[in-house]
Amino acid sequence: MVKKTITLNNGVEMPMIGFGTYQITDPEVCAETVCNAINVGYHLIDAAPAYGNELYVGEGIKRSGIKREDLFVTSKVWFTQFEPEQVRKSVMTSLERLGLDYLDLVLLHWPFGNVYGAWRTLEELYAEGKIRAIGVSNFAASQLVDLITYNKVVPAVNQIETNLLCQQFDLRKWMDKYGVAHQAYAPFGQGIANEMFSDPRVIEVAEKYGKSTRQVALRYMLQRGIGVVPKSNHVERMKANLDIFDFELSDEDMEKLHSMDRGQNLIFHSQAPETVEIATTWPYYD
Ligand SMILES: NC(=O)c1ccc[n+]([C@@H]2O[C@H](COP(=O)([O-])OP(=O)(O)OC[C@H]3O[C@@H](n4cnc5c(N)ncnc54)[C@H](OP(=O)(O)O)[C@@H]3O)[C@@H](O)[C@H]2O)c1
Repeated sequence: MVKKTITLNNGVEMPMIGFGTYQITDPEVCAETVCNAINVGYHLIDAAPAYGNELYVGEGIKRSGIKREDLFVTSKVWFTQFEPEQVRKSVMTSLERLGLDYLDLVLLHWPFGNVYGAWRTLEELYAEGKIRAIGVSNFAASQLVDLITYNKVVPAVNQIETNLLCQQFDLRKWMDKYGVAHQAYAPFGQGIANEMFSDPRVIEVAEKYGKSTRQVALRYMLQRGIGVVPKSNHVERMKANLDIFDFELSDEDMEKLHSMDRGQNLIFHSQAPETVEIATTWPYYD
């Protein structure tokens, strides 16, 4: 059976399924969408200053009326803010915008710039109790092992693109070796790689279990011990994406879905030199 939470390497419990907030920019739509997500049953909200909407995510959390201790909130620090004082300011600003006095998880958003300085500041904020767990995102195996080898706190999570076409088996082996939990972003390929849902293999599996192809994709990841943070602006889809705990994919069907892996990222090529070159020109929402 798949558990609804995963115990991180510091003992903190993190929901296996959460709600993504990227590309929900309109203030009212964002607040209402986050409020709806919480009210239909999401207990993890994945936010970031770089999404430009933390204030409205915070409004949605407030509007939902959920008790703070029943919610797990993730934020991130953008790599142009990786100097120690900037990291502290970024986390404090996220707390203020989200209307919270602590964060459950903060991730270094990308592995560029002053990663060590940023990580050591997150370690301090963690020690001060402002953050319950710290982690990274878009880190390759060598970057992860380097960070772990020369610092004190082992990242609790590496949030990486993971979906049926990009399954991350090689990186996952290194994450398992060091006790770093796997969380999938863009579990549906961000809506720009929808061809994965017309593949006969996933259609066949979905028909067999009477589920949608997207439910099967999420369930496949949960059965591999991967947390997922799908995003949807639609309440019916939010509900459907949560309705994945009443069936179990067989070993044979897991293998069938495994065979869809293309072994490369679809959304962001975080390890390509060109990505590093253009990265600083990406918009950062202060
Ligand atoms: N760490 C990073 O660098 C990073 C990068 C990207 C994303 N993320 C995080 O991961 C979260 C999820 O990734 P994402 O938002 O990029 O993409 P995603 O969750 O893979 O896909 C979202 C798309 O799928 C559609 N969708 C959702 N549920 C559906 C359903 N049941 N049936 C059909 N279509 C459905 C949504 O449309 P509607 O909204 O119209 O329903 C939207 O177009 C983000 O929101 C963000 O929090 C992190």
